[in-house]
Amino acid sequence: MLVFAHRGASADAPENTLLAMRTAVAQQADGIEFDVQQIGNELVVFHDRVLSRTTNGSGLLQDQSIQELHRLDAGQEQTIPTLWQVLELIDGQCLVNIEVKGHVEPQLLVSYIHRAKTELNFRLDQFIVSSFNHHFLLEFSALEPNIKIGALTASKPLTYAAFAEKLKAYSVNIDMSVLDQKYIADAKNRGLKVMVYTVDNARELIQLKEWGVDAVFCNGPRKALITLNQM
Ligand code: G3P
Ligand code: MG
Repeated sequence: MLVFAHRGASADAPENTLLAMRTAVAQQADGIEFDVQQIGNELVVFHDRVLSRTTNGSGLLQDQSIQELHRLDAGQEQTIPTLWQVLELIDGQCLVNIEVKGHVEPQLLVSYIHRAKTELNFRLDQFIVSSFNHHFLLEFSALEPNIKIGALTASKPLTYAAFAEKLKAYSVNIDMSVLDQKYIADAKNRGLKVMVYTVDNARELIQLKEWGVDAVFCNGPRKALITLNQM
């Protein structure tokens, strides 16, 4: 079972910052998940719609210019990074799950991933693009069918994982709180990988591995890897 750092190693560094990414790589996470939003023609790595929870700013992320965002303090001398800064830092050292929030132009994200393959040490198969916005995923995979997509969900529909199969997704990325063994079996039968967020509890990690889950998103990847290696 692969361990992805959730928003970088967010238990040990401010979430979605370069420090969180560096820490995740140092902790030998198999992959890193982070959230991406579009500001003008730029993609930034940031989770919320509002600035106040994770920075010294206030109001909406979307109301700021990229210059204003770079001036904000995200804790421990970190700022809000661009997607490209994060990709440069990771530089192919592990898998990457880019989670798309809000309105992002699919072509812009495709071009950054292609640039990472050309200019950095990434292979295309190291990327998963996920989103709760399945319309975005459909557009994205029509543009670039060679990049894996993860169909995010926080619910267990009556049709289980059928939506992800319909999207021709690589994986269904599901909230721990709605997951059960029947859901996993349904997803596996459809040829989907199962990735689960957000799991930091040792008993839950062990349970998920025993159930055959493919990957987990953890705020503390180092601790999760220790737990799993002791099984
Ligand atoms: O990608 C898994 C997880 O990050 C989805 O929820 O709110 O933490 O971005 P959220
Ligand atoms: Mg996320």
